[in-house]
Amino acid sequence: DDDRIARIASSIRVIPDFPKPGILFQDITTLLLNPKAFKDTIDLFVERYKDKNINVVAGIEARGFIFGPPIALAIGAKFVPMRKPKKLPGEVISEEYSLEYGTDVIEMHVGAVQAGERALVVDDLIATGGTLSAAIRLLERVGVDVVECACLIELPELKGRDRLGDRPLYVLIS
Ligand code: PRP
Ligand code: MG
Repeated sequence: DDDRIARIASSIRVIPDFPKPGILFQDITTLLLNPKAFKDTIDLFVERYKDKNINVVAGIEARGFIFGPPIALAIGAKFVPMRKPKKLPGEVISEEYSLEYGTDVIEMHVGAVQAGERALVVDDLIATGGTLSAAIRLLERVGVDVVECACLIELPELKGRDRLGDRPLYVLIS
């Protein structure tokens, strides 16, 4: 696993001062250009979750839409998109979360998940944890059991993990 994680880590490009001065942007598009590293990423998550009775993979727009669906297919779970506001056409439930400046919202279709289902929440990166904690609130509001959150990358200095309460967070690279 260490070899695979090292290959994944080395295929993520770090771009300084994007989108703003002082930010070190973790660019996963270079990982997607490397089929072996991309496959290793998906395999590591699938190996962890295949026997955990997860029937929902919730992916967060946009980059959670890249990694969530292949995991869902491989473990036999449905994929539920959690989208930015006003994108989903049906009836939605919404959760607001705070950003550095202001707030944002994610939405999920009513009826996509049922009370008692077991979910894995997938995103590329956890920074402040605001996005993932909003996703957890959405799922728990309708009675879904959030088994774990999974990200490729954690920025530990931002302490996003602390905002997830006692829900487990698994990351490949910290
Ligand atoms: C980034 C990243 C996570 C989120 C993490 O997404 O992909 O979803 O920020 O930040 P947080 O832990 O502080 O909430 P972003 O909102 O930039 O949009 P994108 O995925 O659509 O590019
Ligand atoms: Mg995102």
